[in-house]
Amino acid sequence: MRIIVCKNYDELSEKAANIVASQLTLKPDSVLGLATGSTPLGTYKNLVKMYNEGEIDFSAVKTFNLDEYYPIKKDNSQSYDKFMKDNLFSGINIKPENTHIPDGETDNPTAECEAYEKAIKENGGIDLQILGIGQNGHIGFNEPDVNLNSFTHLTNLTENTIKANSRFFASSDEVPRQAITMGIASILKARKILLLASGANKSRVVGELLNDGINTSVPATLLKTHPDVVLICDEDAYSGSKLGVDIGGTNIKFAVIEGKNLLFKCKIKTPEKSDDIINAICDKTIELKKEYNIKSAGIGTPGTIKNGLVTADNLPFDDFPLEKVIAEKTGLYISVDNDANCAALGELIFGNTKDCEHIILVTIGTGIGGGIIMNRQICHSNNNMGEIGHFIIQSEKGRECTCGQKGCWEQYCSATALVKDAEKAAEKDTESLLYKRMRENGKMDGETFFKALDEGCKTAEKVYKHYIKYLARGIESLVNIFGPDAVVLAGGVTQQGDKLLKPLYAELKKDIRIEISSLQSDAGALGAAML
Ligand code: F6R
Repeated sequence: MRIIVCKNYDELSEKAANIVASQLTLKPDSVLGLATGSTPLGTYKNLVKMYNEGEIDFSAVKTFNLDEYYPIKKDNSQSYDKFMKDNLFSGINIKPENTHIPDGETDNPTAECEAYEKAIKENGGIDLQILGIGQNGHIGFNEPDVNLNSFTHLTNLTENTIKANSRFFASSDEVPRQAITMGIASILKARKILLLASGANKSRVVGELLNDGINTSVPATLLKTHPDVVLICDEDAYSGSKLGVDIGGTNIKFAVIEGKNLLFKCKIKTPEKSDDIINAICDKTIELKKEYNIKSAGIGTPGTIKNGLVTADNLPFDDFPLEKVIAEKTGLYISVDNDANCAALGELIFGNTKDCEHIILVTIGTGIGGGIIMNRQICHSNNNMGEIGHFIIQSEKGRECTCGQKGCWEQYCSATALVKDAEKAAEKDTESLLYKRMRENGKMDGETFFKALDEGCKTAEKVYKHYIKYLARGIESLVNIFGPDAVVLAGGVTQQGDKLLKPLYAELKKDIRIEISSLQSDAGALGAAML
C-alpha cells in the first residue's frame, strides 16, 4: 500500500482528484468506482473544477457506485443517487446512461445485486476504485466480520454505521437499516484502489489499517491483499494514538495524542540515576500503551543526540542509546529528539502558529533555548543546531557566558540575565523602589522586578528597556537568517503577556509576527508525540 499523508483535507482532495485526472488522461473511457460520504466531496469538487477548466473529459467515462441505502427513493435527499447527481454528475459531461448506482427502490434486491455485478463485468471491470473508510473499518457497506468472498449484496448496517450516518438524517430512526453494497471480492477486483481518510475520527482506524494484520473485523485491512492501493490521508487521520515523553531535570511529562486531540497527560518526578529514569519512562509507557493502544512514542530529551546516542549535561546520559533501550523495553517504535526541537514542533502543530510553515521557538528561562522549524520539519544537523541562546550579540566586550564565549544572547535576555541586571541596578540605586522591593523580598527575582516595574519605578524601567532592546535585536537577527512566519516566545517572562509584547513590538525595526506560547511547558511532550 502506498501512503500519501497530506497537510489537510484540501490537499488530500487535490491529490485524489489529480490521480483520477491522470487515470482519465491515460484511459479516457475508464470505468470508475465511486464512493459517497463526506470524504470524497472535495475530490468531486476538484474534478468538476478541472472539467470546467477543460482539463478532463468524462464523455467516455463509466461509473459504478459502491453502494446505496435500501430501501430508499431516488429522490430522497439522502439517497446516494441524489448525492452523486448533486455533487458530481450534474457538474461534468458524463452521460447519465454511463452512471450506475444500485437501485434502492427495487422490489427484488437479490436480482438487482446480480444484475449490478454482471454490469460491472460487462463494462470491463473497474479501473480505479475510490473508497472512503468507516470509523469501524468498513469499506462500502462491508461491515466488520465481513465475508471475504462477497460480491454485490444486500447487507444490514451496524449500529456504529447507523449512528455515524445519522448526521445526514433528521434522526437516527430515519437511517435505513440496510444497504446494497459491492462486496469485498467486487472491490478487490478493481485494478487500482484509492482509499481516502480524513479527520481525527479516522485516526484510530487508519492506525489499525497500517499497524495491524489482515483481519475481517477491520474490513479495510483486506485491501492489503491488493497489489495497487494508494491511501491518501490528512495528518489528522494519519496520526493514530501516540505518546510523547518530555524528560526534564525536575519532571518527566507524558502526553497521549489521538489525531490532534490530547487524550491524557501526566508527569512524574525525574529520578536521579539513568537506570531509574529509563525504568520510570518504560513503566509508564507500558501502562499507557495498554490503556490507549499506543503504537509509537516520541521522546524529547535535553542535550545532544548524535547517531542515536544522547549526551546531556543536566541528566546522567553520556552517549546513551536512549531510543534503542526504550524501544527494546516497550516494544514500541521510538523516536528521540532534543527537547527544544520537540517543543517547537508542538508549538507548530498544537499552538498559536498552526497556520505557519516556518517558525522559531525562543524559550526564555535560565538560559535561552529554542527550536527551528522550516517547512513544518525540525531543522537538524549533527552539530548542535538550534543553540540560539549562544549567538553572539555583543562583541569582545560582551558578558562572559558559561559556554566559554563572550556576549551570548542568553547573557542579556534570559530570565536569569534580567534578574541579575535588576539586582545590579537596585544595588546601585538604593533609593529606588526596585531596591526597596528587593529588600522586602529578601532577594531579587522576576516577580519582584515586575512588581517594581508596575509601580512605575524608573530604575526598573531602565533595566527593562535595555532587556527589550537586546531581545528585539536578537529576534531581528534570527528573522534575518531564517525568515520564519512567526517567532514564538515561551518561558516565565512571557507570562507578562502584553507587558512584554507591547514594548517589544515598539522596539522591533522589522515587521515580525510574535506569538506568546499558549502551551508553554506542555509543548515538549505534545511535540515529542508528533516526531
Ligand atoms: C460511501 C461508503 C462508505 C463511506 C464511509 C466513510 O459510499 O461506502 O463506506 O465511504 O462510511 O464515510 P465518510 O466519508 O462520510 O466518513
